[in-house]
Amino acid sequence: MTQDELFKILVAHCKEYGFIFPSSEIYDGLAAVYDYGQMGVELKNNIKRYWWEAMTRLNENVVGIDSCVFMHPKTWVASGHVAAFNDPLIDNKDSKKRYRADVLIEDYLSKIEEKIQKEVDKGRKRFGDAFDEAKFKETNPNVLREKAHYDEVHARYKAAEDANDLEAYRQIILDCGIVCPISGTKNWTEVRQFNLMFSTQGSTTNADDKLYLRPETAQGIFVEYLNVQKTGRMKIPFGIAQIGKAFRNEIVARQFIFRMKEFEQMEMEFFVRPGTEMEWFRAWKENRMKWHVNLGMGAENYRFHDHEKLAHYANAATDIEFHFPFGFKELEGIHSRTDFDLGNHQKLSGKKIQYYDPETGESYVPYCVETSIGVDRMFLAVLSHSYKQEQLENGETRVVLSIPAPLAPVKVAILPLVKKDGLPEKAQEVVDLLKYDFAYQYDEKDSIGKRYRRQDAVGTPFCVTVDHDTLADGTVTLRDRDTMEQTRVKIEDLPAIIGAKVNMSNLLRGL
Ligand code: GAP
Repeated sequence: MTQDELFKILVAHCKEYGFIFPSSEIYDGLAAVYDYGQMGVELKNNIKRYWWEAMTRLNENVVGIDSCVFMHPKTWVASGHVAAFNDPLIDNKDSKKRYRADVLIEDYLSKIEEKIQKEVDKGRKRFGDAFDEAKFKETNPNVLREKAHYDEVHARYKAAEDANDLEAYRQIILDCGIVCPISGTKNWTEVRQFNLMFSTQGSTTNADDKLYLRPETAQGIFVEYLNVQKTGRMKIPFGIAQIGKAFRNEIVARQFIFRMKEFEQMEMEFFVRPGTEMEWFRAWKENRMKWHVNLGMGAENYRFHDHEKLAHYANAATDIEFHFPFGFKELEGIHSRTDFDLGNHQKLSGKKIQYYDPETGESYVPYCVETSIGVDRMFLAVLSHSYKQEQLENGETRVVLSIPAPLAPVKVAILPLVKKDGLPEKAQEVVDLLKYDFAYQYDEKDSIGKRYRRQDAVGTPFCVTVDHDTLADGTVTLRDRDTMEQTRVKIEDLPAIIGAKVNMSNLLRGL
């Protein structure tokens, strides 16, 4: 199965089992907007809890806030979003479809890479064990031709990006003969800058009363910096964390929840003494990677990607990339943002945003190191890594989500073997014992095998089966999702056994 096919199956699985639905589907959906279903919301909440508790409980000097989506319009002037939060867009005149010019070129480059890979695969088939991939790539004329073309287009693309040259983007699209996937034509408009912020009108018709839906949660933290620092008597270095919705008018296709118009971010701004920011940047890089790896989804599936070209406000930046089904892609960004944000808010608001440092006797605008991760991307990372189709010894296939147990939407399913003989009543006693500590499902419909499969498909770490022996000796069968091993345990031992594997506190202890 190709990674592309796997991704399609995953999207279908998310819908079938109540994780994610296309938004307003009865009206044929809305591009790049998705709703979380009954299973999805539980997984999402658990991801948020893992982040929130790691940030605000395990770091004594990090506190949380919850600021609003709407903010004073000047916020977005100070942050630079009004002037510079743009994507280069191009329209096809025949299909009337709009595309990101940079994405059209990147897709074209990916296709060249695929062609090269196909040649390599053919070579491997032809030469078998004697195949030397490096040598093949250095000598095969088809590969060399494609590679030279790739390098030329890539160099032009990077130059256009660096110079923000919209005409150069268009020329690459024309020279490469890139066509609209819908109309199949090359009838393109000029490339224009398109601001990604959604706006709406406030309560007056005054043009200055234009409100924006925040494109990042970070600015809510910057504008509350003074309030939190003063009321919390915070001493530098300290951090402010926030989880909340963000909105961007993204022009995207086929990326599921990787890139959405409405999404959630978990951001933390860490305020430090100027000159110490690189030390904190390194510390937070390490801290955040540890948080990811601690989930047990394989250290090899993460990597840092340091930015060579820095945004004007940053003096260091890196992404934590995850191995998604469509390759290594950004999951989280870590930026050293200098005093850009607080400094600009100080200028535009006219309010003094300074910290008096009792240790040095100086006042300054603090520098800031930011960690910013999308909840939805984290959700996709967990789900895409967890989805498995396993071939069983009896020839059947089982679909299982091996979600890290503390993040699983349902921790335990309680299943009476049959719907009679007092077993449902006994199972209800087990429910009453477990329901205060664990998200559970009670299920008495269909054969026990089918019920196990249903729980595997949503990633439930434990199934507890109540049978006739339970009535006699107070023991139940406990089935483990990952090993499918079944053990006989006493009902009163269930909370401790289940808790050891699924409790968030145990996951946090690994940090
Ligand atoms: N405050 C910094 C900031 O917003 P960003 O790299 O634009 O930086 C941070 O976004 C993270 O938010 C990304 O690493 C990604 O996980 C998530 N993210 C950004 N845009 C997104 C979108 N359109 N849909 C889903 N997640 C998104």
